[in-house]
Amino acid sequence: MATARNMMRAVRVFEFGGPEVLKLQSDVLLPVPKENQVLIKVHACGVNPVETYIRSGAYSRKSPLPYTPGSDVAGVIEAVGEHVTLFKKGDRVFTSGTISGGYADYAVASTDTVFPLSDKLDFKQGAAIGIPYFTAFHALFQKGRAKAGESVLVHGASGGVGIATCQIARAYGLKVLGTAGTSEGMNIVLRNGAHKVFNHREADYVDKIKEFIGMQGVDVIIEMLANVNLATDLHLLSQGGRVMVVGSRGPIEINPRDTMSKESSVIGVALFSATKEEIRQCAAALLAGIEASWLRPVIGPEYPLEKVAKAHENLIHSSGALGKMVLLI
Ligand SMILES: NC(=O)c1ccc[n+]([C@@H]2O[C@H](COP(=O)([O-])OP(=O)(O)OC[C@H]3O[C@@H](n4cnc5c(N)ncnc54)[C@H](OP(=O)(O)O)[C@@H]3O)[C@@H](O)[C@H]2O)c1
Repeated sequence: MATARNMMRAVRVFEFGGPEVLKLQSDVLLPVPKENQVLIKVHACGVNPVETYIRSGAYSRKSPLPYTPGSDVAGVIEAVGEHVTLFKKGDRVFTSGTISGGYADYAVASTDTVFPLSDKLDFKQGAAIGIPYFTAFHALFQKGRAKAGESVLVHGASGGVGIATCQIARAYGLKVLGTAGTSEGMNIVLRNGAHKVFNHREADYVDKIKEFIGMQGVDVIIEMLANVNLATDLHLLSQGGRVMVVGSRGPIEINPRDTMSKESSVIGVALFSATKEEIRQCAAALLAGIEASWLRPVIGPEYPLEKVAKAHENLIHSSGALGKMVLLI
């Protein structure tokens, strides 16, 4: 029987569409954790671009309706399933996925997507780790085969994935170049691991990158907007260089010949295609980064759950990213 005690607030999507389809409801049944699941009292939830694509209905992977969006929460364990030994009520945790959805007062998650949240990080920072940092590690090392001593251009470094990539690449001994679209964004990128930053809204910024890297070229490009940049990226690569397509919002024409003499590659990245073993390795590396204090998420715009529609709108029509967008619950 539904009572006030087993009800919570949660954002529900009943139909695909614009930000207005995100409905905050206050009478959603509290989810119950099964055997290997935990119930988390959510304090903050990261907002990722993919959640806007799924909500719009235009994404290749559709959530069955109705659903609650959100995968990256940070909070405190409220209850555990009967087989859970790793966590107990009261533990601070963050997730890389939820079962019931993170835009809510409470979320159920499987223990293999739940990690202890160090006292070094607050809940907002915990909510900024999941998709951005796991994607950054997966793109750089598991798909991009980046090595210490190589160079990386983080093309779109001021947002969630970009800052994560700069921090990780710097910690692993790469030479890090980043781009941002505003001077505040450029400063954040420089403070978070980049050796050099460029403004991707300046007409001649590609020439400036070329001048900086010289004939050698850049070994890996982590690309956040391939539909705009892929053709020029191919001219920035080193011999055997790799463009990692992390973000793309449309088609682009390239000349395949531009890959030939350098035997360069264009490689797609999808975190949801990572294997369990790859995710386990990402988690181990990232937890070590928190311990060593180089993993420090930068929080950008913050919105209360009531303003979730505005958050989705502003994420896509951003005037310039300044870190990770989070919902405060
Ligand atoms: N493949 C995957 O598994 C995966 C996982 C996570 C994210 N993604 C995708 O990766 C992209 C970035 O995600 P995010 O969470 O970092 O988003 P975000 O926080 O909104 O950041 C967007 C970034 O793109 C930059 N950008 C804007 N115009 C650009 C341009 N012309 N060239 C290069 N960069 C440009 C922004 O810079 P300014 O705002 O400073 O201009 C900002 O740094 C999104 O498309 C997202 O869907 C893919």
